[in-house]
Amino acid sequence: MPTSEAPSQPAVVILSCSLNPTSRSHKLALAAQAFLRASGQPVELIDLADHDLPMCGGVGSFDHPAVKTLTATMQAAGAILISAPVYNYDLNAAAKNAMELTGSGWTEKPVGFLCAAGGTMSYMSAIGFANSLMFDFRCHIIPRFVYCIRDDFTDAGEPGPEITARVEALVSSAVDLMRALAWVRENPR
Ligand SMILES: Cc1cc2nc3c(=O)[nH]c(=O)nc-3n(C[C@H](O)[C@H](O)[C@H](O)COP(=O)(O)O)c2cc1C
Repeated sequence: MPTSEAPSQPAVVILSCSLNPTSRSHKLALAAQAFLRASGQPVELIDLADHDLPMCGGVGSFDHPAVKTLTATMQAAGAILISAPVYNYDLNAAAKNAMELTGSGWTEKPVGFLCAAGGTMSYMSAIGFANSLMFDFRCHIIPRFVYCIRDDFTDAGEPGPEITARVEALVSSAVDLMRALAWVRENPR
């Protein structure tokens, strides 16, 4: 990626979905944010732990001010990276709820996944979520997933070198796809 910032470029939005204050998936989000910043790419990190979102489907849930703000942020994104815990062989409910509430803003955007899990056996857990994004919102799912467990982190709790490299590869793919789609939209057949 070039190092000079292009101000006209939309931001990559990172949606950090763990509500756990010692979250490992949030560390992945921070690593992605750091790499984007170092690359001069606009980035916005949204930590769902800081947003008091209603449960989707309740009376007035779509009119909630926090939902309107978040939907507008997703709408303006050039690409979306979801960092999330794996719960019960899926992404956590907070991630699903945020997507249900703001999904219209995700339409036709590139989406990538950064997952933290307890064990290696749940490595396909993001697939259901990815499928729903393709079916509902025609999202372009980046065919490169970051999936990590405790052993992938240092003793200090930071992502280790291998997982950091995978985060950076995912981020680069997201930016490449975002730019390619923008070019196609600006240069119709
Ligand atoms: C309710 C619950 C369900 C979980 N289900 C799974 C699972 O199906 N597969 C797995 O590998 N880990 C599972 N875990 C472990 C979490 O994925 C792991 O603790 C991860 O670090 C959570 O992400 P976070 O640190 O970003 O909050 C589960 C944890 C909880 C609390």
